[in-house]
Amino acid sequence: MITTRPASSLIGMTHTTVGKTPVTLLGLGTMGTALARAWLAAGHPLTVWNRTPARAAALAAEGARVAKSTAEAVAASSLVVVCLLDDASVGEALAGTDLAGRDLVDLTTGTPAQARARAEWARERGARYLDGGIMAVPPMIGAPETGGYVFYSGSRELFERHRETLSVPAGTTYVGTDAGHAALHDIALLSAMYGMFAGAAHAFALIRKEDIDPASFAPLLADWLVAMAPAVHQTADQLRSGDYTKGVVSPLAMQVAGVPAFLGTAEQQGVSPELIGPFFALMRRRLDEGSGEEGLTGVIDLLVR
Ligand SMILES: NC(=O)c1ccc[n+]([C@@H]2O[C@H](COP(=O)([O-])OP(=O)(O)OC[C@H]3O[C@@H](n4cnc5c(N)ncnc54)[C@H](OP(=O)(O)O)[C@@H]3O)[C@@H](O)[C@H]2O)c1
Repeated sequence: MITTRPASSLIGMTHTTVGKTPVTLLGLGTMGTALARAWLAAGHPLTVWNRTPARAAALAAEGARVAKSTAEAVAASSLVVVCLLDDASVGEALAGTDLAGRDLVDLTTGTPAQARARAEWARERGARYLDGGIMAVPPMIGAPETGGYVFYSGSRELFERHRETLSVPAGTTYVGTDAGHAALHDIALLSAMYGMFAGAAHAFALIRKEDIDPASFAPLLADWLVAMAPAVHQTADQLRSGDYTKGVVSPLAMQVAGVPAFLGTAEQQGVSPELIGPFFALMRRRLDEGSGEEGLTGVIDLLVR
């Protein structure tokens, strides 16, 4: 894994375009527009295209060249970055363009299989391909202090060649030559995030009808989630060693014994257990297999089909 922090903050910078790699960017949605502004602010000659041309007007005023077609946009720079809604829109937008000799960087969210297929599709058209998964929301683009970054995978040569340019909008983390691995890392981390949001939603629901200020509760919740997060290192250690009892301080048997308190509290508070119930069901299944001395790592094996 290769990680690069963003080149620098955009605030207060003065830039010249001399020596800066020209970039073509297809897609000026919320994310594409943020990416465009970061490259413009860093002095990269930028050609943009968007299906709805009106979205390019503000960027034109800021110095971007607006292409009338994707073919014209692709012809303008050897580095072509795509940030569209989904993989189907990438296929649609790039259909009929001449990608021969182009370095195609696809920052559109998709599945690992879509990324691998898109890499092959690009190769057949004579282009090098790098897939990206953006671990940031638009306000984090061009703001290195926020810690946003992009996972990249696919052509290592392409990554190295454009590393400096790619690190302008956000940090870069290269996760290997398999084009699908950026998407896999992206979706894995975001899936964990949704699990966290699901837990937080359940927690807020529990206090919803009580005289508890959500604003006082929120910092307690955030601190607790942060305190618990490092447990993933023990999970990784157990997965690597195969010993799921290693270092366990909260055995599954003890945790499952506490489940009625969780479900009983949800019932008393008038809260549906539909978010946490499935996880408890998996914990019980693992315990029934005789794994009471483990922590929660065994649940992973129940999930993998
Ligand atoms: N926003 C975020 O917080 C965030 C965070 C991480 C990753 N991402 C990813 O970044 C990508 C772009 O997100 P976004 O926030 O910019 O989305 P968005 O604001 O909804 O913009 C979508 C973009 O895709 C274009 N588009 C949609 N269908 C198209 C088609 N069939 N052909 C050509 N262009 C098409 C839209 O063009 P029009 O203007 O013509 O509609 C627009 O430029 C997505 O894959 C998203 O998952 C977003």
